[in-house]
Amino acid sequence: MLLPVSLLLLVQSFLTPVSAQQPQQLILEQVIDASTASLPNPPTYRIPASSDPLFITIALCGNSDNSNQFFVTNDTSISNPGPSDIDFVNTVELAPEDTGVGQLSQVFPDGGILTVHKGSSTVQFQILVSASNSSAPDYPLLGDTTSNQALIFSPPFDPVQPVQPSFPNYTLPAANLSFPPPPSPPTNYTLVFAPTSSSGLSSIPRTSVRGDVAARL
Ligand SMILES: *[C@@H]1O[C@H](CO)[C@@H](O)[C@H](O)[C@H]1NC(C)=O
Ligand SMILES: *[C@@H]1O[C@H](CO)[C@@H](O)[C@H](O)[C@H]1NC(C)=O
Ligand SMILES: *[C@@H]1O[C@H](CO)[C@@H](O)[C@H](O)[C@H]1NC(C)=O
Ligand SMILES: *[C@@H]1O[C@H](CO)[C@@H](O)[C@H](O)[C@H]1NC(C)=O
Ligand SMILES: *[C@@H]1O[C@H](CO)[C@@H](O)[C@H](O)[C@H]1NC(C)=O
Repeated sequence: MLLPVSLLLLVQSFLTPVSAQQPQQLILEQVIDASTASLPNPPTYRIPASSDPLFITIALCGNSDNSNQFFVTNDTSISNPGPSDIDFVNTVELAPEDTGVGQLSQVFPDGGILTVHKGSSTVQFQILVSASNSSAPDYPLLGDTTSNQALIFSPPFDPVQPVQPSFPNYTLPAANLSFPPPPSPPTNYTLVFAPTSSSGLSSIPRTSVRGDVAARL
């Protein structure tokens, strides 16, 4: 049975061993997105030649557990710098700080190499080669998160002070179901009956001229 040509090519591509690629050329002022999960083979990037010092910046987009390492050399005889090549002049380690950002400045008269030593953890990172120190602010940016959701917590730096309305004021008086004290006993009044024809009562105003009795409270 004959296989179609396209299928044959597909089978062939699986059988071909992965060949080493040329280092990816970094371009001045152009941010490169990369991940330790898909590094080039060998894991190196070529730094352009420049007579002026260049600033190499690495920014980790994730937790930095220091298991991934970055080395930079301007020694063109080293094609894949590693820890044993470090001489603190031509070849140095570019270690990201706690902020996840690492930066160094070096001269690259004949270009150079940035190499990534993959650690145990996978991390996305960005590389920038710049002619100037375009250092980012100290604080992390929301764009640095690898999550597509973010919860931002903030202390109440400007708490709202609700203005209590004076009207309407729905504050009800406290419930008070106790009985009021009983009223004091009423004053006793005296009703006095006396004949009006006699005594000194005739000298005071009377309520009825025809009555024989005047009542006085
Ligand atoms: C770049 O600038 C920042 C702050 O302005 C400074 O902390 C850092 O050391 C500079 N980087 C280099 C390589 O000089
Ligand atoms: C590499 O960079 C360092 C620091 O900038 C410099 O002193 C040294 O001369 C450079 N080496 C080469 C081979 O350019
Ligand atoms: C509302 O009424 C309560 C009870 O009379 C009083 O304590 C409170 O001060 C009043 N609030 C205002 C804003 O006038
Ligand atoms: C409850 O009512 C009694 C009797 O009117 C009064 O003496 C007392 O002060 C009231 N208590 C409150 C909490 O208003
Ligand atoms: C009013 O008169 C009655 C009957 O005599 C008596 O029981 C009561 O105590 C008197 N009240 C006062 C306030 O004097």
